Amino acid sequence: QRPVRIAPSILSADFARLGEEIRAIDEGGCDYVHVDVMDGHFVPNITIGPLIVSAIRPLTQKPLDVHLMIAPADPYIAAFAKAGADIITIHAEAGPHLHRSLQAIRAEGKKAGVAINPATPVSALAHIIDDIDLLLVMSVNPGFGGQSFIPESLVKLRQAKALIGGRPIDLEVDGGVTPDTAAEIARAGADVMVAGSSVYAGNDPATYAGRIAAIRRA
Ligand code: DX5
Ligand code: ZN
Repeated sequence: QRPVRIAPSILSADFARLGEEIRAIDEGGCDYVHVDVMDGHFVPNITIGPLIVSAIRPLTQKPLDVHLMIAPADPYIAAFAKAGADIITIHAEAGPHLHRSLQAIRAEGKKAGVAINPATPVSALAHIIDDIDLLLVMSVNPGFGGQSFIPESLVKLRQAKALIGGRPIDLEVDGGVTPDTAAEIARAGADVMVAGSSVYAGNDPATYAGRIAAIRRA
């Protein structure tokens, strides 16, 4: 099995010192920087837009993993691509034309991801599986950091792994990843783990490398 990659979510960063918070996870050994975009419509919270993505782009060489929790997503795909996103993930539930949206992301030259909420079956992705580079299983209801991992997500991760088969698609999990849940999640087949509160807890940059390493060790 390939080593798991860790994608700290800046949702739990101290936004008054966002630059420093990103440099600290970069130097702390993160693999991706996960950016949670929320619109107050698809999810009950509002976070950041392309302006912030372009502002943080120069701070790290690591891929920016941009998770769009917005509906509709299509009108903003080009803006996030131009802002410097490397991976753009949209929700399967966010619009009626998932196939078209994924094509739009790839047309921008970016990696296309699709996320599914806890209630959405993996089988919803059966007919677009060749159109994605990343499959994100949400292990909490999207909108907020710091929620508990939903155990049923382990079943979905195994199903997603089976659906992916030998394709070069990363299986990502987002929500409630901690050193305590990471081992089981890895066994279920996740390639990339998003971790917000378990990396940024306390907002002390001196601790981030250790927190990332703790998840990796687990
Ligand atoms: C939830 C976001 C997550 C969130 C994870 O809507 O998509 O990326 O930041 O936070 P934790 O790791 O605290 O569950
Ligand atoms: Zn996320």
